[in-house]
Amino acid sequence: MEKKDLDWASLPFSYMPTDYSYVCNYKDGEWGEGFLTSNHTITLSECAGIFHYCQEVFEGLKAYTTKDGKITTFRPYMNAERMADSAKRLCMPAFPRDRFEEAVKEVVKANAAWVPPYGTGATLYIRPFMIATGEVIGVKPATEYQFRILVTPVGPYFKGGDQSITITVADYDRAAPHGTGNIKAGLNYAMSLYPYELAHANGYSENLYLDSATRTYVEETGGANMILVDPEGNLVVPQSATDSILTSITRRSLVELAKRLGMNVIERPVKFQEILDGNFVECGLCGTAAVISPVARIQKGDDINVKFEGSYYGCGPVLKKLRETLTGIQAGEIEGPEGWISYIDVDQPYGCPKID
Ligand code: PLP
Ligand code: COI
Repeated sequence: MEKKDLDWASLPFSYMPTDYSYVCNYKDGEWGEGFLTSNHTITLSECAGIFHYCQEVFEGLKAYTTKDGKITTFRPYMNAERMADSAKRLCMPAFPRDRFEEAVKEVVKANAAWVPPYGTGATLYIRPFMIATGEVIGVKPATEYQFRILVTPVGPYFKGGDQSITITVADYDRAAPHGTGNIKAGLNYAMSLYPYELAHANGYSENLYLDSATRTYVEETGGANMILVDPEGNLVVPQSATDSILTSITRRSLVELAKRLGMNVIERPVKFQEILDGNFVECGLCGTAAVISPVARIQKGDDINVKFEGSYYGCGPVLKKLRETLTGIQAGEIEGPEGWISYIDVDQPYGCPKID
């Protein structure tokens, strides 16, 4: 199959419409038949629930081309499960796990020419999302929804690719205890835009958020979990005392891989003071988009300036090993744990209608 004529190695992390998106509508208490569409726009009532009470959840995963030319995705069932959890919290119907996995396969197959070739550093970003399409004016859940998947080829999330970034500490909170920080909903990102723009204006790549109850513990950044390495080489993974960190699939996978590699993993609440005291040698942001992005510094004007010696010039030895193992599995270079890689057979006939 002929690939699109793109400069794959120079792709930014941005949207470009591809050939098809996947759509499935929910009405009268059930999901209809899903289909592929070349129409990348949505027309809705002005009173649709998404516009007023922000009923929206989403996911993010990627399709990769392996060394031997196959197209794969990484643990898509985990995105299906997390999306169902997110939907439940916002009173939306879950899109069934088997249908989610099937829909991912169909939409990637229909856009196989857009899956970046092996070795380019680019991937096909897959963005499943669900919105309330039914009309509501009083505050209540809608009764109609649309589940949709768009795909778009992307390069690295942070400018400069694998180069180390400097992040800052937000004065604003991301997630309240017992709030929605542990689900993947657009509302968590809407309120992060203002501090994100502030961080950028001050020259920082991202915001680190502290726990909003006490502003003592490290939580995560706007779009990725944080992982740390102490001088003994232990992988230290910040946990939330208030369940307000998103359960990153990348982070959970890295924890499993680290254990398999014989590393010592410590999952515990981490005080920001420990970071200020210089107790960690490597720091990284992990997520589907971020993969593992090394953090050189956490800085805030003249008040805070912590340097991570080990991740100052790209990933240090521990995070590098983890990053290489993870991306090696995704690229089919390293055998991963059973069931982590899902193959997409581009020659298989379509299992759903395709509307041009
Ligand atoms: N935390 C936040 C707030 C995110 O938006 C993401 C991205 O999905 C992550 C963490 C990383 O999660 P995952 O590894 O499942 O992509
Ligand atoms: C992802 O990593 O898939 C995300 O959704 C993060 C987002 C900020 C791009």
